[in-house]
Amino acid sequence: MIIIGINAYHGDAAAAIFVDGKLFAAIEEERFTRIKHWGGFPSQSIAFCLKEAGVSFKDVDYYAIGRDPRAKFIKKLFYLISHPSGNVSALKDRILNSRKVASIEKELSACSGISKKYFNNKILNVEHHRSHLASAFFASPFDEAACLSIDGSGDFTTTMLAVGKGNNIKIIDSIDFPHSLGFFYTAFTQFLGFPHYGDEYKIMGMAPYGNPIYIDDLKDVILLKSNGLFSLNLKYFRKAASGIAYFDNDYRPHVATLYSEHLISKFGEPRSKEEPLTQFHKDMAASVQRMSEIVIFHILNYLQKITGLSNLCIAGGVAQNSVANGKITSNTGFKNVYIPSAGHDAGISMGSALYVLHQHLNMTRKDPIFSAYTGSKFSNDEISNWLDLKGISYSYLNDDSLFDIVTDCLIQGGVVGWMQGRAEFGPRALGGRSILADPRRQDAKEILNTKIKRRESFRPFAPSILKEYVSEYFELDEPVPFMEKVFIIRTDKRSSLPSVTHIDGTGRLQTVDRDTAPRYYALIDTFRQKTGIPVLLNTSFNENEPIVNSPEDAFNCFMRTNMDMLVMENIVIRRPQ
Ligand SMILES: [Fe+2]
Repeated sequence: MIIIGINAYHGDAAAAIFVDGKLFAAIEEERFTRIKHWGGFPSQSIAFCLKEAGVSFKDVDYYAIGRDPRAKFIKKLFYLISHPSGNVSALKDRILNSRKVASIEKELSACSGISKKYFNNKILNVEHHRSHLASAFFASPFDEAACLSIDGSGDFTTTMLAVGKGNNIKIIDSIDFPHSLGFFYTAFTQFLGFPHYGDEYKIMGMAPYGNPIYIDDLKDVILLKSNGLFSLNLKYFRKAASGIAYFDNDYRPHVATLYSEHLISKFGEPRSKEEPLTQFHKDMAASVQRMSEIVIFHILNYLQKITGLSNLCIAGGVAQNSVANGKITSNTGFKNVYIPSAGHDAGISMGSALYVLHQHLNMTRKDPIFSAYTGSKFSNDEISNWLDLKGISYSYLNDDSLFDIVTDCLIQGGVVGWMQGRAEFGPRALGGRSILADPRRQDAKEILNTKIKRRESFRPFAPSILKEYVSEYFELDEPVPFMEKVFIIRTDKRSSLPSVTHIDGTGRLQTVDRDTAPRYYALIDTFRQKTGIPVLLNTSFNENEPIVNSPEDAFNCFMRTNMDMLVMENIVIRRPQ
């Protein structure tokens, strides 16, 4: 049984392939197109999946599409009719987009050269939030768990509560568009001067610099309901029928301005992109983050109460809020939390395939997914062939000297581009495509921000820590394989990790497992043997672009920045002094 899951015509287009229930590959199209969050049809990802599994289009039993234009159709229609003030072309776009997805067989036909008709019975639509839920529950280690999908919106739904048991996900309740925690967060992200699709994490990074003094005001913007759900006070938002997300000619996603004049009259003039950040902006960020946590814990406490379960699975764009995720076990009755590596919309590809496998076909679940390394891989030969072709000089080192030389470079203050094994699926670099530095250095953050990342100084860098040492360094000891939770760093350890300790004493950690990431583990362990610290600073290998995928991407990024060393498998390139 071969299933390809697809997220198409939506931000973070992606594909994933399962063969007899086992995940063979999953990748985001942006890694190939080199356009962040690219949202067209993921033909290169599909081709990659087929190649990795060693199969062809005709071998695939089903193509699962993580969108169902028929979902809540009557509600959607009613909503559109009752909001006639919306702009007609945006409305037309939404309908056309649904049509595009409905004609996905055309795209598959164009990629494969097989007639369109052939795909008619092979395509299964899986509603957006069911795909999110499946990406978490069916990949989790739990036989039974409460499940939450929460994002901006998809298939006219913004939030979905469910219970997963064995091969089945049963929906408990859902919240309809436009009442969305994602929209709430995005509206204030825009208000605070960050207009790009996917900028929300900047608010999360800025929040600890402020105080949540506007919580009472925000309680009028997003309203908690006694049934465990919430609604938006729509006065604060633009009329949603006039369109939310749209794509330019390069399939680059954009979000329309979500806040209304009423929000401006209540909170003041929005910040423009270049304007300096004031304490007001920081306090607003802190308040928005805190309010979002209040809403999330309100839903989760309700979900825990009605299910009585201690296991939780979460997915959806809001599940990328690693600060909130790290507080779940302390603020709710849940004891164990699983969040997939691609909790955002790229994960729809994996989720729709898993939904078909287990919910439709009742196939027994395989091993849980704790590895995000499902993307591209390049051998030493492939890398050296490309470098030879370009006339670039390099050295080849065996593993022992490689780990030794790289850790020496880090200890001497160097910054290393590290490309090893398969690329990660999802927004986080986890030692497959990472830039590394010494977490003990006071100035590491400054060096990275000014010489390489050129990003806002308030944004923190993250620690990768050998999993055996988590309790020694952090106040909580839970598995965090995908850097999906932020924990408090123990007070006595903060001074030894200055460059990965955020202003509030937290760190967005990745727990590194020897079995899942043996070479990354070995590198950090070599660093530990030399310094006593089982931690490296890890940030994604990119510079204002999608995470690097190929040796060419990695080399180009190395040349554009001031990294000291580029390591691709066993091949090392040093920056000439
Ligand atoms: Fe979503």
